[in-house]
This record gives sequence, C-alpha cells and structure tokens, in this order.
Amino acid sequence: MKITNLGSRDHASFYVACELFNQISEQPKSILGLATGGTMIEVYHYLVELLLKNKQDVSQIETFNLDEYVGLSQDHPESYHHYMQDIIFNPYPHFSKDLIHVPNGVAPDLEEEAERYESLINQQGPVDIQILGIGENGHIGFNEPGTPFDSPTHVVDLTESTIKANSRYFDNEAEVPKQAISMGLNSIFKAKRIILLAFGKSKREAMMRLQEGKVNPDVPATILHEHPNVEVYVDDEAMP
Ligand code: PGA
Repeated sequence: MKITNLGSRDHASFYVACELFNQISEQPKSILGLATGGTMIEVYHYLVELLLKNKQDVSQIETFNLDEYVGLSQDHPESYHHYMQDIIFNPYPHFSKDLIHVPNGVAPDLEEEAERYESLINQQGPVDIQILGIGENGHIGFNEPGTPFDSPTHVVDLTESTIKANSRYFDNEAEVPKQAISMGLNSIFKAKRIILLAFGKSKREAMMRLQEGKVNPDVPATILHEHPNVEVYVDDEAMP
C-alpha cells in the first residue's frame, strides 16, 4: 500500500479523475467500482469534465456502486442511486443503463438482493479500479468495524458513528437510515486495483490507524494491507 499526500483535496481529486479517465479511454470495456459520499464529489466533477471535453465513448463501461441505504427509493435525494444520477450519469448521459449497478435498497427481500448483487459482481468482474472513501471509524463501503474479512455483499446495521457522520447529508440524525446493503470486504478485495481517498481532519485518525500497517478487524480499511495493488491519496489535513 502506498500512501501519498497530494497536498490539496482539489489536486488529489483531479489526479484520481485522470486515473479513472485513463482507465476508461484505454480500456473501453472497463469495470469500475464506484463510491459515493462527500469525498468523491470533486473527483466525479472532474471526471465528467474530462469525459465531456474528450467526447469519450462510455457505452461499454460497466459500473458497480459499493452500497445503498435500505429504505431509500431511487429518487430519494439522499439515495446513492440519486447521487450517481445527479453527479455522473445525468451530466454525462452516455453510459448504458443496463451496465450501471447500484444495490436496490428497497428490494422486497434484502438478503436476496445482496446475493443477486454479489453474483453479478462475480459474473461480470473483476472490477478494474475500485474507488473507496474511508469512514471516520475506518469503514470502507459500509463495512463497519468487526466485519469479517471474508464478507460478501450483505445487509449492514450502521453504527452510531456512521449515522452521526452521515447526518450532515440529512435534515436530522433521525432521518438517516439505520441499515444499508454494502459490498463486503471480500467483494472489494477482488478488484484488480484499489484507490482510497481521504480528505480533511475528520479522517486523520482513521488514516493513522491505516498507516500503522497492521491488519485489524476493528479498522476494516486495514485489510487493504493484504491487497497487492492499493494506492491511498490524502490531503494535508488527513495526513497523519
Ligand atoms: P464521506 O464518506 O466521503 O462522505 O466522508 C466516506 C465513507 O464513509 O466511506
């Protein structure tokens, strides 16, 4: 694992957008593992800008999102379906709809939905580049502390820390869903290349734990030490 401080959030976001763009333009049938959250917003803005400037063909690009809140419909403004439409798929409307995958948080049978999603990743994968943020508690996707390293896509109970951190996107804490469907640590681990981004002081502690270099189930991101191809980019504030 290589941890690099790219100074500012803006520089790091542009750098990662270029990496995604290069993957797309060099391999038009790439599979991208995409994350949501505040960390990714500038990355995706820059990516859309690059796609637009280059009129890039993305018709064969397949995408798998990491997670979705349970109980939020696709058009709920805080659902990750909505986030992706708003930030990438509407501004650059050339992706093939049937190649865009986000777990369905309102599926009648959530366990069955998690299994369906995992099978689809296994069938279509491996993911070429998986982008990750990191939670203040060290989670990746919604894999909260204590998640087994061999977990597939599964239904997750969100921790207090995550509910509190994500309440900034909702009117109040009570509105934050208590569960999500998330790719598991094992699903994430199958990607060929992983890029994790961490910005701001609130991520510094998680980054400290990651930098210690020990694999620790209480800090799920530390499993990435066992993956052969992981890059981590941070800004000054998140650098331990
Ligand atoms: P954030 O979330 O980008 O909104 O900080 C990251 C995460 O919880 O994984």
